[in-house]
Amino acid sequence: MTEKTNNVIVDEAKGFLRLDTANTTYVMKIVNGLYLGHFYYGAKIPLQDLAYRDAFTSPMSAETMKKEFCIFMDGTSFEYPGWGTGDSREGAIKVRDENGVVRTALLYKGCRVSSAKALVPGLPSTFAAEGRETGTLEIDLEDPDTGLSVTLFYSAFYEEDVIARRVEVRNSGQKDLTLLRVLSASMDMPGRDRQGREFRLLTYYGTWAREFTREEREIGHGRTGVSSIIGKTNNRMQPFLGIVSPGITQESGEVYGLNLLYSGNFASFVEKDPGGGLRVSTGIHPEEFSWNLAPGEVFRSPEAVMTYSSCGLGKMSRNFHDLFRNHLIRGPYKDKKRPILINNWEATYFDFDTEKLLDIARTAKDCGIEMLVMDDGWFGRRNDPDSSLGDWFVNEEKLKGGLTRLGGELEKMGMKFGIWFEPEMVSPDSDLYRAHPDWAISVPGREPSRSRNQLVLDVSREDVRDYIFTVMSQVLRSAKISYVKWDMNRHLTDLYSAALSAERQGELLHRYVLGVYDLQERLLEAFPDLLLENCSSGGARFDPGMLYYSPQIWTSDDTDAYERIRIQEGASALYPLSALGAHVSICPNHVTGRTVPFMTRGIVALSGTFGYELDITTLSDEEKKMIRLQTALFHRFNDLIRTGDLYRMASFRETGYYDAYGVVSKDKSEMLLTFIHVMNQTCTPTRWMCISGLDPEKKYRVEVVADSTKPSVEPEQKSGEEVSVICEAYGATLANAGLTIPCCYGDFQSVLYYISEVKS
Ligand code: GLA
Repeated sequence: MTEKTNNVIVDEAKGFLRLDTANTTYVMKIVNGLYLGHFYYGAKIPLQDLAYRDAFTSPMSAETMKKEFCIFMDGTSFEYPGWGTGDSREGAIKVRDENGVVRTALLYKGCRVSSAKALVPGLPSTFAAEGRETGTLEIDLEDPDTGLSVTLFYSAFYEEDVIARRVEVRNSGQKDLTLLRVLSASMDMPGRDRQGREFRLLTYYGTWAREFTREEREIGHGRTGVSSIIGKTNNRMQPFLGIVSPGITQESGEVYGLNLLYSGNFASFVEKDPGGGLRVSTGIHPEEFSWNLAPGEVFRSPEAVMTYSSCGLGKMSRNFHDLFRNHLIRGPYKDKKRPILINNWEATYFDFDTEKLLDIARTAKDCGIEMLVMDDGWFGRRNDPDSSLGDWFVNEEKLKGGLTRLGGELEKMGMKFGIWFEPEMVSPDSDLYRAHPDWAISVPGREPSRSRNQLVLDVSREDVRDYIFTVMSQVLRSAKISYVKWDMNRHLTDLYSAALSAERQGELLHRYVLGVYDLQERLLEAFPDLLLENCSSGGARFDPGMLYYSPQIWTSDDTDAYERIRIQEGASALYPLSALGAHVSICPNHVTGRTVPFMTRGIVALSGTFGYELDITTLSDEEKKMIRLQTALFHRFNDLIRTGDLYRMASFRETGYYDAYGVVSKDKSEMLLTFIHVMNQTCTPTRWMCISGLDPEKKYRVEVVADSTKPSVEPEQKSGEEVSVICEAYGATLANAGLTIPCCYGDFQSVLYYISEVKS
């Protein structure tokens, strides 16, 4: 039977299941009528009979397969490998039955196609979008010995060149089963690119204040990859894996990119077999995970998303940006400018009162800033990080008249109001902990590890979630609050939940993540206009799962513009600029001690959500004038920055002295080009940068709209139409002959160019 819907074709007679996107094809093969094999993923190939490349049945006939079953299992490319029957590579699923037997052998049962894209209950999920093509294939597998039913879900996002995958596992038998691992996706693929060169592994690692550092390495034999075992995704490793051609650039080379919509322990790994083939997988980390599945129950994995580009990393980034912007990020701010905010953290830390906040807000308003965000320290008796988390009641000593007065004053001023919470935490020195010590995750009778002197609340429990939701709602109803910064500042350790039986303790970490999702979902349902920004000591929970709940995430506590160039380069390789929390802060920078020109700080933050994090009342008139210019630039260009295509033209990592990237509108009629002269080098007239992403046939006007070496220009002049025009040139000329690199005096100077189509 052949079944077909939007870009999904099933030909069971020939044994092929196929998904297509604009530029890619993904093919599976039913092997010997029994097993689901992986056949092909890569550049788009024509619709034709693919049996000519039937590597699966030869040399294994049904007869030899029995005699040499282990060799068959070990040498076949599987789509979703099981456990314990001869495949010595990493399995995707591992289940223990009631006798303690760990053996999972999945056989093909059948499949369905549809043009819908269902949401994943309780988990972040990509979704179909009006006017964009999506097709879904569901494949049923079964382990007849245990009664385990597995459904693999594939959704093809046509325009974005992305395939989303996830798995549902059902206990269709009579006895309890224990899930020991259920990965979201696995794929066996060749270890070499089309030119026969061995693929390399691209990942992003980091730590606090140093998130998103790019790393490329050889893929040796055996298993390697990235993971988290601290109960959340972390700043040490992104859940992303890139399998890339050697020498990959922004515009050339092949890349397979894989990411996971999940905010807990993950494992994303690649395994090279002795024949040089790769098995690539991602999902919930099998360590610290087990799940009891009673007859009739269903377990759902998080969703994984994968893309392929035959023309470099830039295309992979743009595919993910479009997927996340069109099919993952939700809410009223999905396609809207976010308010320009000023956050008081670096301005005051814990030392503030209503008057100080209102002073900041007044000056900020005068400079074009639109929202005051009150950070940590407004509740309980919190004057340092040692107490009060969990006691979400206003500290009226600091904030006389409470949030009602502060919110009211801000509203009169025409300023929006935002507030910080760290809802998943409890301080041992808090009324909440004194009342409910068992609500904290810790092992009874053992001293728990503290971090920032705090413990983690067991949000796997409904009663704990109800408390958090109730107190947060009360706060949010006590004033007109438009924005919440949801922070999360420690690892999960000392794992034990008072609400789970001994045999269910392995479920705690996943239940915790489901609890966080449930809380954020409830909050968004109750406050549908709320702008949520997730944060975790900076970018320690920056993952696609959180993007389903908050359209923006605080990228890093490191606000030094120089460091941010690299951090935002890494973050924007995977996530859209519209998601990257970025602020201008004071110099010398509080984290690094470095001083960067004020205008460059603004230009770097403009390629994110944009805001300020400093005591604006202490700035000079000159600096305040620059804020007016920067906020005007935000209003003029944020639509383009948020919705356009990112083209990275130069990386300071590679050039050693400058960085350049542009955001081009989808119709290629305009581009905002950021150039940062990171380390000054004596100018020579032969230096130029080539501008990619423009239409070669269109003629463009290039003008300067901000220049850190001439920061004192009046905002009215710079944000208006008449500005300094550099040249008019065709896209092809700018792409090949390029634009002369400006001479700058001093380090960290920057220029913002606006390039717009000249219509004849
Ligand atoms: C974390 C966040 C900061 C700030 C502090 C407050 O470190 O990343 O932005 O909110 O907590 O304690």
